[in-house]
Amino acid sequence: MDYKKYIADKISVEGVPSADIESLIAVPPNTDMGDYALPCFRFAKALKKSPVAIAQELAAVISPDDVISEVSALNGYLNFRIDKAGLLRSTLLRIETEGADYGSAHIGEGKTICIDYSSVNIAKPFHIGHLSTTVIGGALYKIFAFLGYKVVGINHLGDYGTQFGKLISAYKHWGNREDVEKRGIFAVNELYVRFNSEATEEMEAEAREYFRLIENGDKAANELFDWFKALTLKYVNKIYDRLGVKFDSYNGERFYTDKMQPVIDELKEKGLLKESNGAQVVDLEAYGMPPCLILRSDGASLYATRDLAAAYYRKATYDFYKCLYVVAYQQNLHFKQLFKVLELLGKEWAKDMVHVAYGMVSLEDGAMSTRKGKVVWLEDVINKCVEKALKVIDEKNPDLADKREVAEKVGVGAVIFGALYNNKIKDIVFSYDKVLSFEGETGVYCQYTCARANSVVGKAEGMSRELPEKPDVNAEEFEVVKALAAFPDAVKEAADKYEPSVIARYAVDLSQKFNKFYFECKILSAEEGVRAQRLAITDATLITLKNALSLLGIGVPEKM
Ligand code: ARG
Repeated sequence: MDYKKYIADKISVEGVPSADIESLIAVPPNTDMGDYALPCFRFAKALKKSPVAIAQELAAVISPDDVISEVSALNGYLNFRIDKAGLLRSTLLRIETEGADYGSAHIGEGKTICIDYSSVNIAKPFHIGHLSTTVIGGALYKIFAFLGYKVVGINHLGDYGTQFGKLISAYKHWGNREDVEKRGIFAVNELYVRFNSEATEEMEAEAREYFRLIENGDKAANELFDWFKALTLKYVNKIYDRLGVKFDSYNGERFYTDKMQPVIDELKEKGLLKESNGAQVVDLEAYGMPPCLILRSDGASLYATRDLAAAYYRKATYDFYKCLYVVAYQQNLHFKQLFKVLELLGKEWAKDMVHVAYGMVSLEDGAMSTRKGKVVWLEDVINKCVEKALKVIDEKNPDLADKREVAEKVGVGAVIFGALYNNKIKDIVFSYDKVLSFEGETGVYCQYTCARANSVVGKAEGMSRELPEKPDVNAEEFEVVKALAAFPDAVKEAADKYEPSVIARYAVDLSQKFNKFYFECKILSAEEGVRAQRLAITDATLITLKNALSLLGIGVPEKM
């Protein structure tokens, strides 16, 4: 049952649509006064009355029923108590029926969302800085799909630019096919780094020539380029598999080579291009921004030019409802400029473009900092977490079957959860010990809660889950049930705010409430009717927690 809607339908405020009332109804942090509350402050102006008076008047006309057991007013809030037995029955039955679909919805049907995320650079390290975009984008992908949207995951590859000429030049001078075949992206990256420190004037000129050859479709140059690209993708795809993310398109910057001219022509036609020191720019001074560079003085295109072409292409190809860019906040200006230029071009869909910005990730272990020129490869971070997880399992549960598999789920889950738990715009310091803690607000803690619930369920095979007609609901049970009932709202909130952390926090909250229930209430040894009810709560928690974690890309081991 959708309680917010149920409550909203009972309230009428002159001039306020029911949907607005529904969106104002919230679960108060402190439930002493009620399980749901409607703040009446927003209505004061329209009704020309104080919020306190409004809440009191509304409370007087709404009568309790078998869903709402109590209505009261306090300090401008209208408070509702939900009938505990009714909430327990309806929530548990719903979760049992919907199973893996619990929390999903159809609100996105007929709408397409493009998500540009991870967007790696060819032949460059896939490093810790790519963690957030990859897992935030991956989670948003799953969340929107769960809500019924058609989602297009796009890896806007960084595969365009003079650096590829440099790479070819370096390979010709110092490279060795066998080594590149064996060590793949690491060997290629070393060549590139070496070029940047050792290249002579001659090599620089040669690199420019190779870049020109790639651009002009020269076969040999393109074969090399495609090789570097293939081995980069092979490498990153392995990591994507482990993180549980996927893409529907790998159209990178290079894909737009022949798609920029129409945009440039349109900019010209609409009088938006201006010359500045030989370059072509869109002046954005009126909007308090530096000019957006479209063509360099030598006629070369820029990052923004390719992003403009990509935006046109995505609108034409997918007719998106929203187009998201999960990119670090360092590129705030780039996206502000991009969206503004689209607006100036008269594209009404410019309003549907969203920069989903996130903060930086650094490692607690300063020795591995990128500042010292040492790159922290994402794969190493994941491997280290998996190794550490394996060690912990070896200590805690040495006889566990499939230890490696469990360690993979725990280690990868720890990395993902560590990156998703905080509000995405915050900079985070990644700590191995913290993300792998069994006690903290971690993925491991949630997984462990699932394993605990699983073990109860395993011992309860064949036992009844038949709920009593009028269940007695104690405080611990009620807290779990309320949290369970809140899951669909958490999914929607995460989507509305482009914020997977809402779900990560939800998972921790549900885990904490379940653990309290588990420690304070007998389950298997309770008398039959009570046992059935508590087993049903345990089943429902397991389903819901698994659904929540899977939206983040985190798997749940049966035992750990
Ligand atoms: N490859 C870029 C980088 O590493 C990110 C691309 C983001 N997507 C975009 N459409 N600009 O900085």
